[in-house]
Amino acid sequence: MQERINKLIKLMAEFTMPGIALNPGPTLNYLTGLNFHLMERPTVLLITAGGQTALVLPALETGKLADIPIKIEAFTYSDDPETRPEAFFRAADYLGLGSTDLGVEATRMRYLEMMYLGDVLGEAGFLDASACLAGLRMTKDETEIKKMHQAAIIAQDALLETLKGIKAGMTEKEVANQLIIQLLRAGSGPELSFSPIVAFGENSANPHSTPSDRRLKEGDLLLVDWGASYEGYLSDITRAFTFGEVDPELLKIGEIVLRANQAGRAAGRAGIEAGSVDRASRAVIEEAGYGEAFTHRTGHGLGMEAHEEPYIFENNALVLEPGMTFTVEPGIYLAGKGGVRIEDNVVVTETGLETLTDLPRQVLPLESFMGL
Ligand code: GLY
Ligand code: MN
Ligand code: MN
Repeated sequence: MQERINKLIKLMAEFTMPGIALNPGPTLNYLTGLNFHLMERPTVLLITAGGQTALVLPALETGKLADIPIKIEAFTYSDDPETRPEAFFRAADYLGLGSTDLGVEATRMRYLEMMYLGDVLGEAGFLDASACLAGLRMTKDETEIKKMHQAAIIAQDALLETLKGIKAGMTEKEVANQLIIQLLRAGSGPELSFSPIVAFGENSANPHSTPSDRRLKEGDLLLVDWGASYEGYLSDITRAFTFGEVDPELLKIGEIVLRANQAGRAAGRAGIEAGSVDRASRAVIEEAGYGEAFTHRTGHGLGMEAHEEPYIFENNALVLEPGMTFTVEPGIYLAGKGGVRIEDNVVVTETGLETLTDLPRQVLPLESFMGL
């Protein structure tokens, strides 16, 4: 843990970031091992450029501090909201924060914590620390990669169990609920990567569709995008299946997307730009005449968060390094008809991309998965 704090301090120096304020989430957990619910009680970890830390938290959470391997000075308040400002003042005083700008995670920091911090910062204010923090969790060590691999195995096992029970007339919601049960049975942590996407027929043309009461019928394509968690690390996989005889164009786009997925996974390795993975996948889809129907980037980083750095978009010049982990998930979406996305989870190595997910990728009849 101290190593991780040291890494952060180096990044803060590199980005001239005088201080950092983190509220509950993966980065705070990565640095301290602490997990808090993000709720109405403000909770914030403050870190100075010199590596001093202070945690403002509700008194009822202090028991968690007994088990962590690093020393963090705690400043607590009670359930009377009037006691909160004093805890923030004491923490700021301890760190000597008066004129220290604080970097925050733009996608996570809340107005609640910023309000209390604002009152103790004097002339200082807030900075966007996204670029500074991007490098903190982006490359994974062997233990982290093993956890991601296990999250992939759990997700795949859970899907195969779920597929066995799918019948005509079931709703998307029913299938999604069964999948959640199987994910938990297979050993996923209670916090899944995200709520599974189960989309039948025309609904699969919406990349982030929400499971509905739409019932499965002959001739539907069935798309599932799901993930498990294992010791805080996530998987994020998409596969599509046919149920009866589907529109031949859906089979055609299935084959194109499969080639795009293979091309993306074949293109990556340490030392090349993240954007080249996107370009390799996108070229396959563009050459097949479906460029307009591939409406998103080819992938995103994956780890403690379902979407994190590095993002795999066309113009991303970020150079891939061994241990970076991300998804490769090209898709083609035809409004009113259906869509196919094939999503795998990969790790960058010196020589290529190692794929953590190995469930068959081709768009095949659902029955062919029943015996797996
Ligand atoms: N599922 C595609 C994306 O959010 O990038
Ligand atoms: Mn996904
Ligand atoms: Mn994804």
